[in-house]
Amino acid sequence: MHITTIISIFLFAAVHGAMAVTPGCGKTPPASGTKTIGSNRQYILQVPANYNSSRPYQLIFGFHWLGGNMNNVAPGYYGLRDLAREGAIFVAPNGLDNGWANTGNRDTTLVNQILTEIQNTLCVDETKIFATGFSYGGGMSYSLACSNANVFRAVSVIAGAQLSGCTGGETKIAYLGIHGVQDSVLAVSNGRQLRDRYLRVNGCQAKTAPEPARGADSTFIKTEYTCNPGFPVWWIAHGGDHVAGPSGTNWMATQTWDFWTRAIYEGVGSPPGGTTSPLPPSSTAAPPSSTQVPQPQPTGNCAARYAQCGGQGWSGSTCCESQASCQVVNQWYHQCL
Ligand SMILES: *[C@@H]1O[C@H](CO)[C@@H](O)[C@H](O)[C@H]1NC(C)=O
Repeated sequence: MHITTIISIFLFAAVHGAMAVTPGCGKTPPASGTKTIGSNRQYILQVPANYNSSRPYQLIFGFHWLGGNMNNVAPGYYGLRDLAREGAIFVAPNGLDNGWANTGNRDTTLVNQILTEIQNTLCVDETKIFATGFSYGGGMSYSLACSNANVFRAVSVIAGAQLSGCTGGETKIAYLGIHGVQDSVLAVSNGRQLRDRYLRVNGCQAKTAPEPARGADSTFIKTEYTCNPGFPVWWIAHGGDHVAGPSGTNWMATQTWDFWTRAIYEGVGSPPGGTTSPLPPSSTAAPPSSTQVPQPQPTGNCAARYAQCGGQGWSGSTCCESQASCQVVNQWYHQCL
């Protein structure tokens, strides 16, 4: 091989390594719509309008809740698609049995298959792959944080729990948790437990995280932890119940967007690639006066109603407060109901 050929191959590889773009760059894109993988799995793909195959895009996964499906996530993607202003590729995978039990890691496998398909057909900035979801979809996003932290840059877990397992879970990943203090489906203690893993893994400084009184989901308090640069943890507690989006202004979407496009780069220089859309003017709800309100406490050392009480990898309490009993939801999650 001629030396200049070798040099140009080397340069090509070096430049592309630095830019961290995918083999799909430069190719004719697939159409947006529902895609099938294997015999029984689907996802919705949203390719940006005016897609430019020379430009690396952010890639965002949105996971549905229990009883929902991919059509509940697309086309709005929890309010994020508006904020992305056609600057991101969106994917809404479809769960089996309308959930993300992730039995034998079948849903992690699905996500890996989707990633391969998309990386081979679309131009993705590999440093900007994100996941979010509500409830079971939050559990699946958390599970990916545990297993695929080398692929996903950050996750936003809305009202989640360790519902889809946590294989791995010792690799740093930027983590945003959002939870209602009066969540009557997955108690707020679930959200705190997921957060606490990443406070530890990301090496965050201890900090008091005040939570609002039980009340409106439009009222929230955000705690920004100082962690290893590039791996912040944010915890946002709101006054409401188990909701995918607050009434009124969707502050959950704007907070997630701010986290993914700005906060994760603090202390590590400007975002690589330079394709990040700036955050539109935010209409943040005024933080309420921060009073620490006592939460319902479990009896003795047993878990409270709607809290986790077992499942593979669980090391907390396995008994429930009186009037609740520990019930198996799936292999990863048993809940006091
Ligand atoms: C496509 O993106 C590349 C790289 O950012 C840019 O140089 C080019 O002008 C874009 N093409 C169009 C038609 O916008």
